[in-house]
Amino acid sequence: MDQQTSGLELGVNIDHIATLRQARGTSYPDLLEAAFLVEEAGAEAITIHLREDRRHIQDADVYAIRKHIKGRLNLELAATDEMVNIACDVLPDDACVVPEKREELTTEGGLDVIGQFDRIQKATRQLTNNDICVSLFIEPSIEHIKRVPDIGAPIIELHTGTYANTSGKEQQRELQRIIEATEFAHSLGIQVNAGHGLDYENTTAIARIPEIRELNIGHSIVSRAVFVGISRATRQMIEIMQNARENK
Ligand code: PXP
Repeated sequence: MDQQTSGLELGVNIDHIATLRQARGTSYPDLLEAAFLVEEAGAEAITIHLREDRRHIQDADVYAIRKHIKGRLNLELAATDEMVNIACDVLPDDACVVPEKREELTTEGGLDVIGQFDRIQKATRQLTNNDICVSLFIEPSIEHIKRVPDIGAPIIELHTGTYANTSGKEQQRELQRIIEATEFAHSLGIQVNAGHGLDYENTTAIARIPEIRELNIGHSIVSRAVFVGISRATRQMIEIMQNARENK
């Protein structure tokens, strides 16, 4: 699969397929069917976020997806005892630790790896002891990245939300921050992923950063799927990533 995106992998976040289902309490759209189509279209990972308020993904979804998908499962979770215990039972391939606030629309900002160091380190240790590969969702900040080796996570996912929500010079400045953060983390031997707010317009510049290994993209792909289907929406994003790596 690596060749499809020239070493850059795609994790498709399918939370919002579940959002649609939960809006009516129906059994459709079927999350597993979505996961299979996304895998078939060439994505390397299925990403889901089991939130404390269970607003989209439900516990049973996590177990079913774990059991049936062929590729990697990346479970996003808050660093709480409840979530870490569920993860240690489900055993996803990867666990991305994210901050979580009940009232937020979506994950807002990265983890506070300085202020919440002990809690995040404890969660990372428990997940790692269960052979789950841990990534920390953080801001593109050198100060935060410096703490990652002490926490013990091998991967970070850089929050691209500010980049996605700005334009012009401000966006270019944020892109530069992401590039510098990526290079710094890479120099420490940390794998760098990125995600949040990436869409069919703004992904190219992020995908061109050579050290980035994986992009996790959800809302824009599921939104496009409404018109073209999830297979085509996934393939179109893979093509953008591939073209970016080939400098097209
Ligand atoms: N990465 C992380 C850590 C996230 O929390 C999310 C949103 O759940 C995403 C990526 C995907 O963001 P979006 O839906 O904006 O593409």
